[in-house]
Amino acid sequence: MPVTQTKARLMAATSRIERIMTQVLCIAGARPNFMKIAPVMAALRETGIAAQLLHTGQHYDAAMSDGFFADLGIPHPDHHLEVGSGSHAVQTAEVMKRFEPVLDQVQPQAVLVVGDVNSTIACALVAAKRGVRVIHVEAGLRSYDRTMPEEINRVLTDQISDLLFTTEKSALVNLVREGIDPARVQFVGNVMIDTLHRNLARAVPAQQTLGITLEAYAVLTLHRPSNVDDPVILSALLDVIAEIHRRVPVVMPLHPRTRGNIEKFGLSAKLDGLHVLPPLGYLEMLGLMRDAKLVLTDSGGIQEETTALGVPCLTLRDNTERPITLVEGTNTLVGPDPTAIRAAFDEVMAGGGKTGRIPEYWDGRAALRIAHALQSWLPQAASCSPHSKAA
Ligand code: UD1
Repeated sequence: MPVTQTKARLMAATSRIERIMTQVLCIAGARPNFMKIAPVMAALRETGIAAQLLHTGQHYDAAMSDGFFADLGIPHPDHHLEVGSGSHAVQTAEVMKRFEPVLDQVQPQAVLVVGDVNSTIACALVAAKRGVRVIHVEAGLRSYDRTMPEEINRVLTDQISDLLFTTEKSALVNLVREGIDPARVQFVGNVMIDTLHRNLARAVPAQQTLGITLEAYAVLTLHRPSNVDDPVILSALLDVIAEIHRRVPVVMPLHPRTRGNIEKFGLSAKLDGLHVLPPLGYLEMLGLMRDAKLVLTDSGGIQEETTALGVPCLTLRDNTERPITLVEGTNTLVGPDPTAIRAAFDEVMAGGGKTGRIPEYWDGRAALRIAHALQSWLPQAASCSPHSKAA
């Protein structure tokens, strides 16, 4: 038999097996997705749910992607869309175009998306329009700030999801306000904290990452467009960081967007003296945060990780979609205003940083709760036709 014919038969057989086998097609695309998808994949495997993993390639640098797969033991993706960078429209559209044929080939019972990045909404939208059920992990978080691209992604993904898993109870209030049936929502806790629990003992000590010993230090991460895309705001932030650095050394793992803008705006001299690092692997970043005196950030996930670690966090944003980190955790909202940053920093240095407590269900078992919920939900979902989804 000619080789091409054998290959075609093999591919047809593989695709038939995939169709029979795959219950859940899990999606990951960007750095903050990887620590969420890792425990979900592990729990699905543990509970015998057949899953495949698709990487959209939204983040593609080794430091932003591959290293996380290795560190967190995430299985090699079954599918890779290799979309890369682009404007929001281009990136979202490219994921959608490339995802649709894969979805048609795999025909899973459900597509599982995590978080709020462009890959999340893109894959959810394709699945919903193909009549494939959508599961959203980390649903219902709201900053109520529609200038954040992630907020648009959150609201839209939740609207087209069939099953919504939440990390904190405030999320249900947000979802109900948007007309979502509470019967579709389950409070399971925080899968990102599952990953933190699983890896804390392996975290790389700060001294090893830095190559020097610092008595006390602050960690800074910045990448939100609202902080780094405007030269005036970015410049003022770097000035106040330089002031802080004179009191306690500042360690700054630099996101590619921020590095690009600092160079473009001619602000590179403002980094002089700071401990500037490339984007770090998960285990390095975890060790760096765990051993820090305080963390300054505009990231969503880091607000939660510092709460889990009991390290004071000053969030350089005017709002947060994770209010439990303010109410129960170690997080304080200070915004991008230098005066407010200085005041909050002084308070932490004077011993006034929040100590917080661990929120409910941030106990390392969230992914297992999700897998158990799916064990009963998937057969029910399969018995209904895709277009008669429960309201
Ligand atoms: C994205 C997510 C954001 C998340 C952040 C974490 C959306 C809307 N935003 O924002 O929620 O907190 O990731 O990193 O999905 N780049 C590289 N290498 C990479 C990836 C990106 O150099 O591996 C560059 C891109 O070329 C671009 C910049 O970094 O210039 C921004 O990347 P992009 O994925 O567009 O958005 P983020 O700002 O990273």
